[in-house]
Amino acid sequence: MLVAVGSVANLPEDQPTTINVDGRPIVLIRSGEQVHALRDVCPHQTQSFADGVLHREFVAVRPGEMGLGSEPVIACPWHHWEFSVTTGRCVADPRFRVRVYDVVIEDGNVFVETSAKKGDR
Ligand code: FES
Repeated sequence: MLVAVGSVANLPEDQPTTINVDGRPIVLIRSGEQVHALRDVCPHQTQSFADGVLHREFVAVRPGEMGLGSEPVIACPWHHWEFSVTTGRCVADPRFRVRVYDVVIEDGNVFVETSAKKGDR
């Protein structure tokens, strides 16, 4: 189900905006003309991304490995785990993932698809 959640113009750039859609906590992140929607529950300790920080690049440090990435990630404000805003995957440990919702923008209005998981269609 596509749910209207407001206009792109009302979303602050590079800052999380938390909303509730039919009982689902969702965080919207505007990056330029793109808007990303993730479940607003960090898989680490179930906290909100409300005060999270968007980074356009990241350094992933895994046991025995270090990598650079250039996709936007949101850093959870609680323990700074970073998650891709496009895939929801944790950059340090891909076993952890945040649900990502499809977003449609029409005439400057933002709609979130709440019924299908991103990539399911
Ligand atoms: S609750 Fe998000 S990193 Fe710990």
